[in-house]
Amino acid sequence: MSIGTAVRARLGRLETPAADAYRSLFIDLENFADDLATRVPAVRRVLEIGCGDGSTADRLHRVYPDADYVGIDVAPEPGRRFTGNPQQASFASVTSAELRAAEPEPFDLVVIVDVLHHIPEEADRRGVLADAAAMARPGATIVIKEWASDGGPAHPLAWFADRYISGDRTVRFGSTPYLRELATTALPDWSHAWSGWVRPWRNNVLLALHRS
Ligand SMILES: C[S@@+](CC[C@H](N)C(=O)[O-])C[C@H]1O[C@@H](n2cnc3c(N)ncnc32)[C@H](O)[C@@H]1O
Repeated sequence: MSIGTAVRARLGRLETPAADAYRSLFIDLENFADDLATRVPAVRRVLEIGCGDGSTADRLHRVYPDADYVGIDVAPEPGRRFTGNPQQASFASVTSAELRAAEPEPFDLVVIVDVLHHIPEEADRRGVLADAAAMARPGATIVIKEWASDGGPAHPLAWFADRYISGDRTVRFGSTPYLRELATTALPDWSHAWSGWVRPWRNNVLLALHRS
């Protein structure tokens, strides 16, 4: 069991505030969601690949309260801490390939937040991106938020947190140029929509692609 899992299990009611405080050291998820809703205002169906406990799901539900949200993760109990309306959200412990094979109704928005660096093999990263594209409808947007290994004061802390607190022995970050190259080559039919970063750190690289 990772240090993070062991600590969370002992926190009880304080788990969500503690998890939010810890995550906010690295990323402002409220700012991420607010900016997303400004750029992609009309969304009926959202897919989050690698949704984890549901931290980003909560924020997406806040900005898209009427959208149907689907969150998947390879870990057990995805969406365990989701606090939004359960009628609007569903979670499943499946791979993106398995969901794709089930031919879900296509999505307007596919979000992948802090997931790619937990996928060690590049072929598998490309596979997840290809699955995202296959489940997106024409006119959809794919948003990738990754922690880039571009240096800066927070990068050693982010590596330590993922390696020793989350307990991911194979965590592997990529630089911003690598991430751009990965996104554009894995999604050849998609065009650049916008890019930027999410406060408080420039390592929080944001790449959005649009299918015209
Ligand atoms: C840092 S968490 C991010 C969770 C969520 N996106 C958020 O922002 O709160 C990374 C998640 O990616 C998941 N993950 C890793 N490899 C994956 C894969 N191939 N497909 C789907 N999820 C994956 C992990 O299980 C973990 O829950």
